[in-house]
Amino acid sequence: MKNPDFPEGERGSFAADARLSPTLPSRYYHDPEIYGRELRAVFQRSWCYVGHVSELPNPGDFRVESVADQCIFLLRAEDGEIRAFYNVCQHRGHELLQGSGSRKKRIVCPYHAWTYDLDGALIQAPHTDRLQNFDAAEFSLKPVRLATCAGLLFANLDPAAAEFEQAYPGLAQTFSDSLPAIENFGAAIQLDYDIAANWKIVVDNFSEGYHIPVAHRQLTRVLEVGSGNRSRVEEHYAFFESRSRAGYEGLELEAGLPYRSWTLWPNTCLLSLPGCENLIVIRMAPDGPEGCREHVDLLTIDGEVSPTVEALRRLFAECFNQEDIAIVESVQRGLKSLGYDQGRYVVDDRDDWYSESGLHKFHRLILAALAS
Ligand code: FES
Ligand SMILES: [Fe+2]
Repeated sequence: MKNPDFPEGERGSFAADARLSPTLPSRYYHDPEIYGRELRAVFQRSWCYVGHVSELPNPGDFRVESVADQCIFLLRAEDGEIRAFYNVCQHRGHELLQGSGSRKKRIVCPYHAWTYDLDGALIQAPHTDRLQNFDAAEFSLKPVRLATCAGLLFANLDPAAAEFEQAYPGLAQTFSDSLPAIENFGAAIQLDYDIAANWKIVVDNFSEGYHIPVAHRQLTRVLEVGSGNRSRVEEHYAFFESRSRAGYEGLELEAGLPYRSWTLWPNTCLLSLPGCENLIVIRMAPDGPEGCREHVDLLTIDGEVSPTVEALRRLFAECFNQEDIAIVESVQRGLKSLGYDQGRYVVDDRDDWYSESGLHKFHRLILAALAS
């Protein structure tokens, strides 16, 4: 029976069974109306990665971030907890903070000097003592839910969303089992890329290994494709572990070291490359129907940049991420071709390493979010 929430394309309707389904119709990658619905239905209702605790070491440290089209800030309060608020003054809507920095005890709006403490309470508002029916307690900053998982910070704009641990059961364990020192990680290297592709194309590309032997020659020298021996697949995330090959000049590896990858609904992908304890956190921030901003945090123990970490940065930044960016920008152009609408997911019953079943699941979650 047809599901009214599944879209039709030239090759028929998307199907719940990946083995039978055509891929998402290509309009999902450039239609402004679908993009606007995604901002509300996906990004304003999901847990989105917004940074690492090491970026806010001291009370008063803040960092402005965005979740889809919403500007928020993260701030370490005086009790040591990191909190998040919408970055908007409750008087007439001026933005409160820019970039990153530190505020000792208070946040002063640059427009009329309404002043908030580090817990978001309005503590000073010039000339409001003469106002009738004015209760400063009603004008606290609007909080945003924030969860910490192995030092990674996730914000959720939806007050009714499930708790992080319920949405991603066992995720923290996959991090601590794989990376025993993760609690001591810090940001060693940060990279930003403006990509001329819809954010989903970049996530799509991260969610399958089918293209690795074809498109990533250098990575294939490091990674034993198809050597996966450990995995965990849940509704909102997937974790895989594979094994290394002997590496290459500058990154000599023993064969058989672990290589791990995670994909987290909706827009975060993580890699831990062989060679040392590291975690590369990649988020695809939507930036219009046909663009996105990829932000990368390379985390290492104490944020140290050793020669091995530098070799990993080169492998990522100068080899396979460049290759992936060229791929996804080509796909964005191709998806606007009048000569293409839908393809097929390459999956089989054994769900082998090359399977595009994770890609199909990602698209099913997109459609479920848009239908809700
Ligand atoms: S808008 Fe912030 S004090 Fe007026
Ligand atoms: Fe790739």
